[in-house]
Amino acid sequence: MPPFKETAILAASIVGTLVEAASCCDKTTVNAGQRVIYSYPGLTPPHDLYDLTREGKVGGIILFGENIGNSTASVISKLQEAYSSAPCVDHNAKLLIMTDQEGGKVRRLPDEGPFESAKEMGDADDPGKAAAKGGEEAAEALISAGMNMNLAPVLDVYRDEGNFVDGPERSFGNTTALVGACGKAYILSQHDAGVVSTAKHFPGLGAAPAGANTDLQPVTIDLTLHELRSVDMAAYKPALDIAVDMIMTSWAVYPALDAEYPAGLSSKWVRGELRDRLGFQGVIITDALEAGSLTSFGDADKRAVLAAKAGVDLLLASGRNVTQGKVAADALAEALRDGELAQKEFAAAAKRILTLRRRLKL
Ligand SMILES: *[C@@H]1O[C@H](CO)[C@@H](O)[C@H](O)[C@H]1NC(C)=O
Ligand SMILES: *[C@@H]1O[C@H](CO)[C@@H](O)[C@H](O)[C@H]1NC(C)=O
Ligand SMILES: *[C@@H]1O[C@H](CO)[C@@H](O)[C@H](O)[C@H]1NC(C)=O
Repeated sequence: MPPFKETAILAASIVGTLVEAASCCDKTTVNAGQRVIYSYPGLTPPHDLYDLTREGKVGGIILFGENIGNSTASVISKLQEAYSSAPCVDHNAKLLIMTDQEGGKVRRLPDEGPFESAKEMGDADDPGKAAAKGGEEAAEALISAGMNMNLAPVLDVYRDEGNFVDGPERSFGNTTALVGACGKAYILSQHDAGVVSTAKHFPGLGAAPAGANTDLQPVTIDLTLHELRSVDMAAYKPALDIAVDMIMTSWAVYPALDAEYPAGLSSKWVRGELRDRLGFQGVIITDALEAGSLTSFGDADKRAVLAAKAGVDLLLASGRNVTQGKVAADALAEALRDGELAQKEFAAAAKRILTLRRRLKL
């Protein structure tokens, strides 16, 4: 046995080497990356997305029509495999792999159900049964492609026929009771199949007129707080009662509570209403970070930090651009290091995300 001093020097040099070799294990950058949902163009994920995934710096991936082909399931399994080889991450947690498979016109898996739109489910003789079937079909479609999360159901209560959500038949109906009941049935079916549900777009886009698309331009929804609470947000009550996994915030501005920030960048909406008043304990995700409604809030870096400061957990970098996700993740890490984001809240968000991901079977 070598003398104590030499052992200590040897140990120190081994530790030094390990730390260097595992510099990708920097907890701050790993935790920041795990709060970002990435996206990519075309059928094959680029190398930089695989690299980030192998470093454990990815929370999940959103897929669009352009990413869907015969090889989708094998691409997804390669990405999950890359994540499972990452050092310093919880290997019981899978990547969240998601798409918009709402029903009717909004289906990224074009050959799979639900073929009925949310509106048709809501108009059925037994809307609850139709929505339950919709959730079942969506889950089946996602699982067959290797995905484990749906960005559905839509819980917006539409006001006028043909408006922003009713035009493409994305809303179950025009009453809180109908939307709430259908949403709950759809979520339960997905839950039974092991697929994560996302209720959206909180606090509600049901009053947005036709053409008022936050993906393209700023949208203001000028309802009273009483109406937003009693009509739009009340539709979330049944979903909250069954502890829906995830809620997506809207990018519209609701001056009743916050005239400056869109809901997803607003602490008044995210913390004040969704966490504190409604008591939601699940994961909160933004809508598309590249949305045209956010042009006055800087690039992906600024938007990501504002959303995290407002209390959102996951950032949806859906511009089919790996750099966008990386810019968002780097900004979160920097904001955490310099104290702009609080350690305790950051850890709580990371924990909510990880708890959900540990439950994923696929
Ligand atoms: C997918 O596979 C089917 C049959 O296996 C084939 O006909 C089709 O051309 C393929 N599509 C693409 C985009 O490769
Ligand atoms: C919902 O729409 C139906 C027509 O489809 C209409 O009769 C009813 O008044 C509407 N309800 C509300 C609350 O707007
Ligand atoms: C990708 O995102 C980055 C960061 O937001 C941006 O600077 C760049 O222009 C984007 N590239 C494309 C092709 O959209």
